[in-house]
Amino acid sequence: MRDARGGHTPHTTQGVRSYYEAMTPAYLEGFGPVFQGSRPDSTEELLDYLADALDLEPGMRVLDAGCGVGGPAIGIAQRRDVRIDGMTLAQVQADLAQIRIAEAGLTNRVRVTQGDFATISELYPEPVFDRVMFLESLCHAEDYRIVLAGAYRALKQGGALYIKDFYAVDHRSRPAVQQAQAGDLAKLNALYHMQVPDLASLVDVVGELGFLIKFVRMPEFESTYRHWAKYEHVAQRSWNPTSGQPGEVIQGIELFCWKV
Ligand SMILES: C[S@@+](CC[C@H](N)C(=O)[O-])C[C@H]1O[C@@H](n2cnc3c(N)ncnc32)[C@H](O)[C@@H]1O
Repeated sequence: MRDARGGHTPHTTQGVRSYYEAMTPAYLEGFGPVFQGSRPDSTEELLDYLADALDLEPGMRVLDAGCGVGGPAIGIAQRRDVRIDGMTLAQVQADLAQIRIAEAGLTNRVRVTQGDFATISELYPEPVFDRVMFLESLCHAEDYRIVLAGAYRALKQGGALYIKDFYAVDHRSRPAVQQAQAGDLAKLNALYHMQVPDLASLVDVVGELGFLIKFVRMPEFESTYRHWAKYEHVAQRSWNPTSGQPGEVIQGIELFCWKV
């Protein structure tokens, strides 16, 4: 398990990029245009849910940090009158996103570029965003504190950070399970070039940076692993946890907090 406060991870941003450059076709086949493992069966329901969770108002400017092929950005812009800047490590995703944005007729409100979210504060040194969102992308960060400090700086006063991601289930009260879970987490992290943290340490980092938490919650939709399983089948990469069902090893959580 990773402590989100600590800097070191065994994976590298370059490794994450290579992974997504290679695996994006399999992601599209398995997940469709929204690359999220914590989700309801219907992509439309997920997009409705995200648009609501983000608490958006007309005219807002949003940063989608780790935006994939722009599936969420396009879906949210179709539901709310907002402008969205997306960034993704993988050039192949940025190229596909441009095509999808043009097809959706959203070039005036959605734009996606290739970039590393560890450099948000260099790309956006002024506070210009009303929302910064990380949709199952922050788990790939080499250093959470650097990335989230950049998000804080890029947000306007009164703006908000929204993180939807996976965290290790806290099994400290069940030491035998915790030991088996450690093996499953190590396999997951290696397979997906990420490092799943414990939730408490992530909460600690956002609090330390000055964010004020509005909510930390389990997503309020009925989850399915169908799309994730399809991806693993297509990609021929199987996590297959042995300490429990996927939901007993990691849990999807949403966190919404204000810049005050
Ligand atoms: C599981 S996918 C989720 C994509 C998207 N948020 C969605 O919901 O469809 C993870 C995304 O994080 C991006 N990512 C990972 N590390 C990143 C980094 N350092 N900078 C920018 N994007 C990153 C990947 O390129 C990929 O698009």
